Amino acid sequence: MIRVARRVGPVGAVTAAVFVAASMATAAEDPTVKRGREIATAACADCHGIGVADRSTKTAAPLFRELGRKYPVESLEEALAEGVVVGHPGMPQVKMNEADIGAFIAYLKSIQVP
Ligand code: HEC
Repeated sequence: MIRVARRVGPVGAVTAAVFVAASMATAAEDPTVKRGREIATAACADCHGIGVADRSTKTAAPLFRELGRKYPVESLEEALAEGVVVGHPGMPQVKMNEADIGAFIAYLKSIQVP
């Protein structure tokens, strides 16, 4: 029994260290950006690549981190406020309030690639 406990010990310590590192990263993140990512995850990730390294499930759907190559991401603000995000097929009408839109735009800014 004692031998087993000794062998498990170091693994537990590593797991704890990883967990602490992960929660520190989360705590350091801007809560607005975090909220924006939650919105993107909930409403857009079915089709779009919404993160820093994922792919779009629907290949036609642009990666969110590359939207800034076409236009400043702030320009989406108005369209989102009106509840229309361009005519895109299969796209659910998402109605966001002002705070959500601000958070969503802040999130988009945080992930843009050159
Ligand atoms: C059911 C799939 C689907 C969902 C869900 C979806 N999209 Fe899209 N989206 C697409 C497709 C496909 C395109 C590309 C086709 C096109 O340009 O019309 C696109 C294009 C876009 C574009 C680029 C338009 C342009 O002209 O540059 C933006 C911005 C966008 N989506 C935002 C969003 C946002 C924000 C959400 C979540 C609130 C979302 N989409 C959810 C499928 C989806």
